[in-house]
Amino acid sequence: MQYGHFDNAAREYVIDRVDLPVSWTNYIGLKDMLGVFNHTAGGYLLYKSPEYHRITRFRPNGVPMDFPGHYIYLRDDEDGDYWSVSWQPVGKPKEHYSCRHGLSYVKYLCDYNGIDASQTLFVAMDDPVEIWDLRLRNSSGRPRTLSVFSYLEFSFHHIAMDNQNFQMSLYAAGSRYEDGIIEHDLYYEENGFQFFTGNFTPDGYDCLRDSFIGPYRTERNPFVVESGACSGSFEKGGNHCGCLKKTLTLLPGEECRLLFLLGEGSIDAGKQMRDKYTCEKADEDFRRIAAYWDEKLSSLQIETPNEGMNTEINLWNLYQSEINVMFSRFTSFIEVGGRTGLGYRDTAQDAMMVIHSNPDKCRSRLIELMRALTSEGFGLHLFEPRWFDPEAKKEKTFRSPTVIPTPDKSQIITGLKDVCADDALWLVSSVVQYIKETGETDFADLMVTYADEGSGTVYEHLKKILDFSARQTGQNGICKGLRADWNDCLNLGGGESAMVSFLHLWALQNFCELAYALGRTEDAEHYRQIAENVRQVTQDVLWDGGWFLRGITADNRKIGTHSDTEGKVHMESNTWAVISGAATAEQGRLAMDSVDSYLYTEYGLMLNAPCYTKVDDGIGFVTRVYPGLKENGAIFSHPNPWAWVAEALLGRGDRAMKFYNALCPPLQNDRIEIRQAEPYSYCQFVVGRDHTAFGRARHPFMTGSSGWAYFAATQYLLGIRPSFEGLIIDPCIPHDWKEFRVSRKWRGCTYEIHVLNPDGVEKGVRSITADGKPVSALPLMASGSICHAEVIMGRGDNT
Ligand code: GLC
Repeated sequence: MQYGHFDNAAREYVIDRVDLPVSWTNYIGLKDMLGVFNHTAGGYLLYKSPEYHRITRFRPNGVPMDFPGHYIYLRDDEDGDYWSVSWQPVGKPKEHYSCRHGLSYVKYLCDYNGIDASQTLFVAMDDPVEIWDLRLRNSSGRPRTLSVFSYLEFSFHHIAMDNQNFQMSLYAAGSRYEDGIIEHDLYYEENGFQFFTGNFTPDGYDCLRDSFIGPYRTERNPFVVESGACSGSFEKGGNHCGCLKKTLTLLPGEECRLLFLLGEGSIDAGKQMRDKYTCEKADEDFRRIAAYWDEKLSSLQIETPNEGMNTEINLWNLYQSEINVMFSRFTSFIEVGGRTGLGYRDTAQDAMMVIHSNPDKCRSRLIELMRALTSEGFGLHLFEPRWFDPEAKKEKTFRSPTVIPTPDKSQIITGLKDVCADDALWLVSSVVQYIKETGETDFADLMVTYADEGSGTVYEHLKKILDFSARQTGQNGICKGLRADWNDCLNLGGGESAMVSFLHLWALQNFCELAYALGRTEDAEHYRQIAENVRQVTQDVLWDGGWFLRGITADNRKIGTHSDTEGKVHMESNTWAVISGAATAEQGRLAMDSVDSYLYTEYGLMLNAPCYTKVDDGIGFVTRVYPGLKENGAIFSHPNPWAWVAEALLGRGDRAMKFYNALCPPLQNDRIEIRQAEPYSYCQFVVGRDHTAFGRARHPFMTGSSGWAYFAATQYLLGIRPSFEGLIIDPCIPHDWKEFRVSRKWRGCTYEIHVLNPDGVEKGVRSITADGKPVSALPLMASGSICHAEVIMGRGDNT
């Protein structure tokens, strides 16, 4: 069953049936003002911080779902009938509504009662101003008098203030109206203002939520809309809203357009922005948003026989991965912004995936992470970049109950008990990837402070990370699991994590490549030796016959063995054994065969199987999670692409694509009654086989699966990846693919790559030509140039 379709030409997903089982969300804003909205205009807007500067309020996990939002009500002043452009909150018959999720905008459409209406939400390119672009057309064949009412609910900025201690917060915010502009003011803050205005002279307004809604009513039937008259409310204290009313008469066929502007700043800022954001300027910004994405998307486009993959890679997968880097992970309807700043491991991985399309943002994320590394070599699991940013430290602070706290170092750096063993290891490979992609070798020598004391170059930071993991080994010589490794619910403490040792090995190898490329041979040799020792110990300790162990508890019990009845086979250790190169080819094949036979389902690979049902605190919290959900045997999406990489490295393209397709969101579009979640986004997990809701996807957008899916598909399945020597072409594809094309920008040159597969192989390159000349990898070329490459796959690999 479908609820909508992909309109790839318009770069939109169209929701034809708006009565979805769950909210389908999208993101607006590209810089400091950001918002997340669903298919019925429910959602919220924020400025810079989801935790400390919410502009509009959202009641997460509530009923009715996804309230409130940024709504437009239309009222027929002849008979008093009213509806909303985005279906909710009024909720007239659903067949009159649709929604188009585009890149950094959402468009709601309705054709109710002879009026065609659309409302588009997006954020201006250069100013913190959200634009609501409302267009109306009278298609009823008779003159109509309509009243338009906007509605949004202001927030008390801080998530905590918005949710607790109302004896204080209810008296902290005020509102007023002047010259067509509503001003909201969080009085405690020095610059706690927002404005809400429009490109028209309002016929009425309300600034107080409770006056607009009326007692014992909801957004579904607000008193002001029902009665047709605003009350002109405002006050110092209370809950505030943005309602502007405009009454219009539309002749048959007549059209009209109103812009509403919600922005940061007081009435004065509102006046300036109203002068600036005319319809022409709004159109220009809308085009600039499209151009912004044109530029990003053009960094890599593909044409393959797999339509689901084309839709993902050419559009939605890149979009989702970019959103993760921009918004970090704490802005959604699930992650509602109450957690501090950045998650170390998530950000370190996200920042590796879109360097080709967003090098600046990735670079600044890498620096933020580097600053949150301690001089001992571990990263701070959750941190606010502001704490370590020398520029932010210079900003004026003032005393008030809502001032954003900067904790003492002693509260931030609490020692090993809070360290996740994998966090900083990801950063090593991300930095190396950044340099391979951009060629900015000087980045290695950039001086960056440590979170606790002192400073060092980026290169030195990386060495500290590798040395930390080398020191943190347990009784069998495998890296300790500490508070957790990638799996938040595997809490091994002093026990050992196979995944972390494999990750360590991968990081060591990436670092050695960098060290050689920089001519630092002594370091390269030193770390090469450590890598060899790690490889040896993993071989000695972790191979269990058909697959690799997941770890060893502090009391020396093996996890993930043949003799286990629960948690027998795990994704993380087996995929990373292959990716890190620790596994021999034979072990790799056997391990991934076990992954296929124990973990594969039609919706993707489960994280482990069989699920845990007996509590075992030596293993961790995973044994206290319901079977089939989250880390206990769900199809946890994030590690799925690791399996694609592993299979690609083993040369098994058919298997890799089978795994890819099972998880690929667009390929789920006709089973939404099972999936429920949006088919244009990877979700954090899909419920696993051991649960009654098998196949149901949850937690869209904010997930590392997106970046990894993009990285694995483009760099390992299609096999196009930058190296210090050139652009490597090493595809691993299904045997029945005859050809595919990729257009890939690398360091300013566009490579138009045509791969042919005359022998029907899954892997192996017979020849590569760049502009007609035989090469083994595509060479670096002048910026602005176009290189035409032809690649013939086949037996007899010459690369
Ligand atoms: C969530 C966390 C991520 C973790 C994963 C597995 O996605 O954000 O950090 O690796 O769960 O536990």
